[in-house]
Amino acid sequence: MVLSGKRILLIISGGIAAYKSLDLIRRLRERGAEVRPVMTRAAQEFVTPLAVGALSASHVYVDLFSREDEQDVGHIRLARDCDLILVAPATADLMAKMAHGLADDLASAVLLATNRPVLLAPAMNPQMWANPATRRNRATLEADGRHFIGPMAGEMAESGEAGIGRMAEPLEIVSAVITILDPAPKPLAGRTAIVTSGPTHEPIDPVRYIANRSSGRQGHAIAAALAKLGADVTLVSGPVTIPDPQGVTTVHVERAEEMRDAVVSRLPADIAVMVAAVADWRVASSADQKIKKQPGEAPPPLQLTENPDILKTVGHHEQRPKIVVGFAAETQNVEANGRAKLERKGADLIVANDVSPETGIMGGTRNSVRIISHQGVEAWPDLDKDEVATRLALLIADKLAEETAP
Ligand code: CTP
Repeated sequence: MVLSGKRILLIISGGIAAYKSLDLIRRLRERGAEVRPVMTRAAQEFVTPLAVGALSASHVYVDLFSREDEQDVGHIRLARDCDLILVAPATADLMAKMAHGLADDLASAVLLATNRPVLLAPAMNPQMWANPATRRNRATLEADGRHFIGPMAGEMAESGEAGIGRMAEPLEIVSAVITILDPAPKPLAGRTAIVTSGPTHEPIDPVRYIANRSSGRQGHAIAAALAKLGADVTLVSGPVTIPDPQGVTTVHVERAEEMRDAVVSRLPADIAVMVAAVADWRVASSADQKIKKQPGEAPPPLQLTENPDILKTVGHHEQRPKIVVGFAAETQNVEANGRAKLERKGADLIVANDVSPETGIMGGTRNSVRIISHQGVEAWPDLDKDEVATRLALLIADKLAEETAP
C-alpha cells in the first residue's frame, strides 16, 4: 500500500470541516498509514475525541499540560516521531499562531517544535480566507516551507455562502500527502491505460459534420491523473480545443470508427476509461463533395446509421482490460440508467453524471458524479473536473491492486 509504514500526525483544529477529518483518517489508514491525532480544544466542540480515537485506533492527544499525554510521548517527541504533520482542518486562528510562532496549546507547540514536513488543509469562511491578515499569514507559512492543499471553491457548510474556503476533499488531501512523502509515488507504474476523450465529428460532406458539446476536459484530466500515478497512458481524443495533457501519448481522431480502431489497436491494456461523447450515429454515406443548395429543391435527407459502441467493444473484448470504466451522461434516472449501462457494456465502473441543461455540466469545468459498480453506488460531491480525475485515478489504482492481489 502506498502509505505503508508512514506515520502521520493529524492535527484537527476547530472548524465545521472537522467532521471530514473522520473520513480523512479512514482514507489514510486504508492506504497503510498510521495516524496519531492531536485535537485543539475548539476541535473537540465539533467532533469527539472518542470518535477520532476509535477511527484512528490511537490515543488522542489534546492537552499540553496533561501529565498523561506528556508522560506517554511528550510534545517534542510527538512533533518529531512522525513522517509528516497534517493540519486538517487548519483554521485561520491556527494559521495565525503558526505564522507568529505562538505555542500556547499542544497543537501549536507541536507545530513550533517539529522538523517534519507540514501540510495544511485550510477551511474557513471565504471572507476570513480573503482577509489581508490571513493572506499575509499564508505567504509567511509558504515562505517557511509549509505545504498547502486548498481551500477549494464551493458552498460553506454553515452559512451556505459561496467562495473560496471549503476544505479540500479527503482524497485530495491523501493525494497531497502521498506527493509530499514520496514525490514520485507510482501505484500505477508498469500499467498501461487507454482513455478516450472529447466528441467525435461525423462528416455529412467535406465541410459539414454532426457533433456534440463535449469539451474533452474530463477525459484529458483523467489521462493526466493516471499518468501522474505512473501509468503509461494513450489518450485517444476527438476534436477539442484544449491542449494535449503532459506525460501522455495523444492520438487525434475525428470519427467514431477511427476512435474505435485507435483504441482496439492499443489492446491489451490494464485500464480502459472511455470518457468520449461518441456520436451514436453517423451519416450512412457522407458526400465526397460539398452538398450544394439546389434552388427550389427540398433539403437533402440525412440517412443515419449506428456507430460502433467503443466501450461495449472493449468491455466484451477477448483482450478486455482488467479495469473498464465508462461514463453515463444522463438527463434523467441517472442511477438506474447507469446501472443498466454497467451491465450492457461490460464495465466495472460507470461514472454517471447528470447533464440536464440546468446543471451546466456539459462543457463546464465542474462535475457532480455517482460511481456505480457491482458493489453499489457512491455519490461524490460537486467537484472540479481535475478533482474528479484525481479521485478516479486513485480509485482505479486501488481496484487494480485488489484485482491483482494474491
Ligand atoms: N460510448 C462509446 N461508444 C459509443 C457510445 C458511447 O464508447 N458509440 C461510451 C462513452 O464513452 C461512455 C459510455 O459509452 O463511456 C456511455 O455513453 P452514452 O452516450 O451516455 O450511452 P449510450 O450507450 O449511448 O446510451 P444512451 O445514448 O441511450 O444514453
